[in-house]
Amino acid sequence: MCGIVGYVGKRTAAPVLMDGLRRLEYRGYDSAGICTISNGQLEIRKLAGRVERLAELLAQQPLPGVIGISHTRWATHGPPTDTNAHPHLDQSGKLAMVHNGIIENYLEIRRKLQRRGHTFRSQTDSEVLCHLIGYYLEKSLASHKSLTPQLLTEAVTRATGEAKGTYAIAVVHAALPGVIVGARRGSPLVVGLGQEENFLASDVSPIVPYTKNVIYLNDGDVVAITATECVVQANGRPVKRPVRTAHFSAEEAERGKYPHFMLKEIFEQPERAADLLKRTLRPGKGTAEFEELALSSAELARMRRLVLVGCGTSYHAALVGEYVIERLARIPVEVEYGSEMRYRDRPLERGTTVVSISQSGETADTLAAVRVAKARGARTLAIVNVPGSTIARESDAEIHMRAGPEIGVASTKALCMQLLLLTLLGLALGRVQRKLSVQEGRAIVRALAAIPGKLRRILQSDAQIRAIATKYANYANFLYLGRQLNYPIALEGALKLKEISYIHAEGYPSAEMKHGPIALVSPEFPTVIICPQDTMYEKNMSNLEEIKARNGKIIAVATEGDEQIAKKADDVIYIPPTIEILQPVLAVVPLQLFAYHVAVLRGCDVDKPRNLAKSVTVE
Ligand code: AGP
Repeated sequence: MCGIVGYVGKRTAAPVLMDGLRRLEYRGYDSAGICTISNGQLEIRKLAGRVERLAELLAQQPLPGVIGISHTRWATHGPPTDTNAHPHLDQSGKLAMVHNGIIENYLEIRRKLQRRGHTFRSQTDSEVLCHLIGYYLEKSLASHKSLTPQLLTEAVTRATGEAKGTYAIAVVHAALPGVIVGARRGSPLVVGLGQEENFLASDVSPIVPYTKNVIYLNDGDVVAITATECVVQANGRPVKRPVRTAHFSAEEAERGKYPHFMLKEIFEQPERAADLLKRTLRPGKGTAEFEELALSSAELARMRRLVLVGCGTSYHAALVGEYVIERLARIPVEVEYGSEMRYRDRPLERGTTVVSISQSGETADTLAAVRVAKARGARTLAIVNVPGSTIARESDAEIHMRAGPEIGVASTKALCMQLLLLTLLGLALGRVQRKLSVQEGRAIVRALAAIPGKLRRILQSDAQIRAIATKYANYANFLYLGRQLNYPIALEGALKLKEISYIHAEGYPSAEMKHGPIALVSPEFPTVIICPQDTMYEKNMSNLEEIKARNGKIIAVATEGDEQIAKKADDVIYIPPTIEILQPVLAVVPLQLFAYHVAVLRGCDVDKPRNLAKSVTVE
């Protein structure tokens, strides 16, 4: 998952390209590079390390030119080194390219080109694709007087047609100083349309400071942009793609007063939740309606079975959704990892709707599962945070999370919106399928409407949670426990801690303790248990006693006013009471803050944790 940016227009390109990389750094950050064209020459700077290191280099060696491309890398083939950093050059040294994706048949192509005298500098699959474009361009130039944008477009089309795997690329040629050619398959690529300037980027964040007019390219598209033109082709023929309005502003993608994007996004949850609920709740009817949902009530009434599919945090949201929708709509719900469903030859019965959940809308495994579902004839509904993303565009219908841009690699506010939307979907299904009365619906609507205020109340415990994190920041292992709808939140709490503090943590259904994990309990192996006052309370308290009996330390997430648990647990974080199906929305917030503060105390890079990237667009 890398980030790519292209610019052509009236400004000096380097500052635009570097600012774009800073906005894309959450996509990958182990090396970075930039190329501009000036006086018919390619000017390249690239190195291993963060974007800031590249910026320091540019401060000493500024780059001229009003056209260029840039790249921030998450290494797939070849370690992060200066040589493996993008941009890469073709054999002629006149064509430069940046790439996000994986070329699966790169070894075969490299051998073919080596037999034709090509030599390679790096260990990357990307350099091979760049050479292949140059190879086809050289062949075309043999029968043409001069290089044209169309010839470069055709060479990109032929090379990407031969390549197998995924790509989003931007290509420039020294002899075409006013043209950038881009192409995509399986990795996102967006065109920004400005005033006498145009942009290419992996997502809208590098573009929105200049224009909100964007085109989301489709798989197979090849685009040629100049300062004033944008020509999209598919299968070698011009096509029209809709110009859309980018779904967030530059300010929303800024960190503001917060030290990290993750903390900002945790604290944004009440407002984002309030906005979403205001748009979707229908108190009088005791139901929910979704502005962008292109599914009629009749189609909702015909839904007999759901399969929820996602990865990582979105998979955990799906697990909560299974409990909630089955309770409200009384229809069977299954949950699949995208990476498993795409390869598992599972039957999809008639009347099955596959609901994909994805913040980015670009996760390769989830997208592949959606494509399998469509090939099997299932209806597909996407719950995404990025309108116009690939998963949204390839689904029959979409619902938007409206979380605003989520920059921190660790997903927080997106999860909050996912949990609310799955509850709202369950409410809508339950009402339209007459499983919930209007009175029952109105009670759920009232409980939902109170959630933003309850989230705000939990956030007021931030200082207490930071103090608890201080006590536990040096432990090497954690157990997270929860029952029923809070079992997936135990998994999510463990994932948060793992991915940003690098501490090992495992989530389990509380009752599973006695089937093995209790062997791990010791004073050096603390347990976080989600133990609200619900139908599972006494059972959870028994698990808590079992842990205490073995001198295990306990952090409990409990309901305000519960004094009993305070006598048992070493530390308690209280959350306000709510109906059971909404407990996960509240219970996860203390776990987000706990993981955040532990990671900060351990000096970890919270927004850009090692080895991770925000949008996993490779298998
Ligand atoms: C969550 O904190 C992780 N960053 C990761 O598991 C993420 O949820 C997963 O990659 C799915 O991403 P998506 O929601 O964009 O599809």
